[in-house]
Amino acid sequence: MRRIKAGIIGMGFIGVSHIEAIRRIGFAELVAVADVNFELAKKKASEYFIPKCYSTIDELLADPEIEVVHNCTPNNLHLEINSKIIKAGKHIFSEKPLSRTSDESAQMLELLKEYPNVIHGVNFNYRMNPLVQEMKHKIKNGEIGDVKLVHGTYLQDFLLHETDYNWRIEPEVCGPSRCIADIGSHWMDSVQCVTGAKITEVCADLVITIPVRKKPKGQVETFSINTNVEYEDMPVKTEDWGAVLIKMDNGVHGVFCVSEVSAGHGCSLAFEIDGTKASLKWEQERADEMWMGHRDGPNYAIKRNPNHMTPEAKQYTYLAGGHPEGWNDAMRNNVMAFYKFIADGKKLGVDTPDFATFDEGHYIIKLTEAIVESSKKRQWVKVD
Ligand SMILES: NC(=O)c1ccc[n+]([C@@H]2O[C@H](COP(=O)([O-])OP(=O)(O)OC[C@H]3O[C@@H](n4cnc5c(N)ncnc54)[C@H](O)[C@@H]3O)[C@@H](O)[C@H]2O)c1
Repeated sequence: MRRIKAGIIGMGFIGVSHIEAIRRIGFAELVAVADVNFELAKKKASEYFIPKCYSTIDELLADPEIEVVHNCTPNNLHLEINSKIIKAGKHIFSEKPLSRTSDESAQMLELLKEYPNVIHGVNFNYRMNPLVQEMKHKIKNGEIGDVKLVHGTYLQDFLLHETDYNWRIEPEVCGPSRCIADIGSHWMDSVQCVTGAKITEVCADLVITIPVRKKPKGQVETFSINTNVEYEDMPVKTEDWGAVLIKMDNGVHGVFCVSEVSAGHGCSLAFEIDGTKASLKWEQERADEMWMGHRDGPNYAIKRNPNHMTPEAKQYTYLAGGHPEGWNDAMRNNVMAFYKFIADGKKLGVDTPDFATFDEGHYIIKLTEAIVESSKKRQWVKVD
């Protein structure tokens, strides 16, 4: 197997997780990073002994040894930067959401038609937790019977206080949806992945719980807590909370809610799939365990153990039972699936990847827009 060389654009909160994920893949090599904040890029390059550090995207893209580029910048830059990466003929692994609007993501899909050899992936990392993969294959094997219902949540509290501020609050940067685009996108991707079905209709209620926030005068790091800062008032235009009824193309009905203002919740992603024989439930904050419910027999808490997993899911687990795997491992699995697809010489459109492609990323943006429209119109909205 040959070594695949990579570069990362954006050294903020998630960029660092990409460094660590690439570093855990034996046949991948991180050769360069770039950030508009060049001091930050230099600091990360120095801390992680990354050989090259660039202050501009163009310099990184001109580097001939780089084959894969990760885009870890805020949402408003995804169209511009992803398009540049594609035009450079490099494989692209973009952060989610793929873009702010479906018009932007459609432009990327259009451009990709001219570059059929470019492999494209979106970092919907939760689908690559070993037990989420196990859930997917248990459902595929008929272990819970016919799927009838799905339900769950994704709750956070990083915007609980009116003084909490982040680029995600600004629609010009984040897009017209915040909570749904930022974390609801993960929930929808995970559920579509495990059920193998698409959400096709939505009915939503989006709520702004803090109509005016206090914006610190100065830069704010993702998930950081600020003290002793001056503020200016900022009217909020995007949702802090969303409740969404869904219908899927296999007849399944469901519901989920998302929040960035629910105290005590760091990353409470959870979903349950109810079938005619049994139910399966997985919670991100207890990632190494899955619940299987039965009416006519005992319920089980299934601990992740490679010895008892389906072969498809087993390829994404590394540690023996009792040694917990979690968020970082799912990140690594997602990046690994992307690099392995390239290393194996697979082609999109011919081979089906385990990671989400730009097509799936685009569909999630369309769902997000349908949810916003539904909440405005107070009615069900179908997605094409
Ligand atoms: N998959 C996940 O679980 C997950 C988690 C967090 C964030 N994200 C996504 O990752 C992206 C980044 O989020 P974040 O929380 O890391 O943000 P962040 O603000 O912490 O980091 C963004 C970085 O991009 C840099 N940047 C901005 N403009 C640039 C440019 N023109 N060229 C190069 N670098 C530039 C900034 O200087 C900053 O270092 C977002 O799209 C977000 O939705 C995904």
